[in-house]
Amino acid sequence: MSSSKAELSTCHMPDMIYGTAWKGNDTERFTYCAMQAGYRAIDTGSVADHYDEEAVGRAIRSAIADKIVKREELYIQTKFSWYDPGKEGGRDIWAYDPQAPLTDQIQQSVTSSLRRLRPGNEKIRGDESEVDSEAYIDCLILHSPSPDGSLSKTHEALQLLNSYTPHPIRTVGLSNVYLPDLSSLFPRPDNKADLQLAIRRGLDPSDHPPLRLPSVIQNPFVDHPKSHLPTFDREVRQFCRDRGIAYQAFHILTGNRYLWNGTRPGPVTKLAKLVGVNNPEALFRLCCDCGMSCLNGSRRVSEVGSCGPSEQKKILMWRESGEEAGRWWKVCLDGLREWIDEGRWVTEEDLENALRKLTEKERHTGGIDE
Ligand SMILES: NC(=O)c1ccc[n+]([C@@H]2O[C@H](COP(=O)([O-])OP(=O)(O)OC[C@H]3O[C@@H](n4cnc5c(N)ncnc54)[C@H](OP(=O)(O)O)[C@@H]3O)[C@@H](O)[C@H]2O)c1
Repeated sequence: MSSSKAELSTCHMPDMIYGTAWKGNDTERFTYCAMQAGYRAIDTGSVADHYDEEAVGRAIRSAIADKIVKREELYIQTKFSWYDPGKEGGRDIWAYDPQAPLTDQIQQSVTSSLRRLRPGNEKIRGDESEVDSEAYIDCLILHSPSPDGSLSKTHEALQLLNSYTPHPIRTVGLSNVYLPDLSSLFPRPDNKADLQLAIRRGLDPSDHPPLRLPSVIQNPFVDHPKSHLPTFDREVRQFCRDRGIAYQAFHILTGNRYLWNGTRPGPVTKLAKLVGVNNPEALFRLCCDCGMSCLNGSRRVSEVGSCGPSEQKKILMWRESGEEAGRWWKVCLDGLREWIDEGRWVTEEDLENALRKLTEKERHTGGIDE
């Protein structure tokens, strides 16, 4: 795709992202409130089953018109989803013709998302498919690998999405994806095992040119005994760290209730008490500092002090407020890391011991002035 001067405008992905799924008729209101509350990243999707992309676009245009935010300060991402007749229930929920070839489905879906998420009204004329040539989307995420398991279809979809970068799509992401697919789709050229796996799974490098790495992986971050999902998505988070890919987590609250509902006191509850914020906010902040961006779709976004960027700022300011706070921050962050990466639970008592040791160590090494 050709680029234009709009290519120059893009913003860094914020570490807190407002999720617009499952808001129904309240999508516009909550999305607007989220921007008012300070969110600068918005996640949506093009299929009208869980998302209402039209309403998200209206909220964005209102927030820009009301001078709450400028387009270049926003990070907007949406998704291309595979056709699934089981989802329809007689409704027209697709942003493309399901009978069309994949190339056309993706082209129609991208055009529709650009039109729905456009930042202003002035350039829209009669034709529905016409979009402002400077409208852009910061990240277009492939909602999942191909549901029939065909990695060559997934490869094709990613290649097609890449062809829209850098304009009107700045970057491409991939969601609901796990290590075997990632290692096959993006084999390290010098790694025989990756290449053999790719070939076994139908991705012979001679027929499938190397794909550019996605900029973003968006996955569930869950630790639940009844879930089939890998615990805390450890392997994929490591893959992202190794390959320089941004990791976005969803289900942080719903998939890990024990971390924040008070039944298992540890790093999250300790930090929340120290700062005076609620447990979910402490969990989000610690997760961000463990290297993730966090999706949060809370409906209490309009309630002052209950959730969102202002509470996140409060934690960051507290962290910088003195040496004792800095030490507590470190032991809580290390404590959460130990659990999510190594599987070693850290109690509040362990945290207090760790703080004492850290203070002692700093005293001996002259780290603090007393
Ligand atoms: N790629 C994908 O396949 C995929 C799948 C799922 C989700 N997503 C994205 O991720 C976003 C987030 O989804 P999610 O599954 O993580 O769940 P969520 O929509 O963020 O819901 C989290 C739950 O936690 C509650 N909650 C939030 N803040 C709270 C607080 N401070 N105290 C107590 N409860 C609180 C919310 O209730 P309240 O609303 O009452 O606060 C809600 O019931 C979605 O909107 C969507 O954009 C993507």
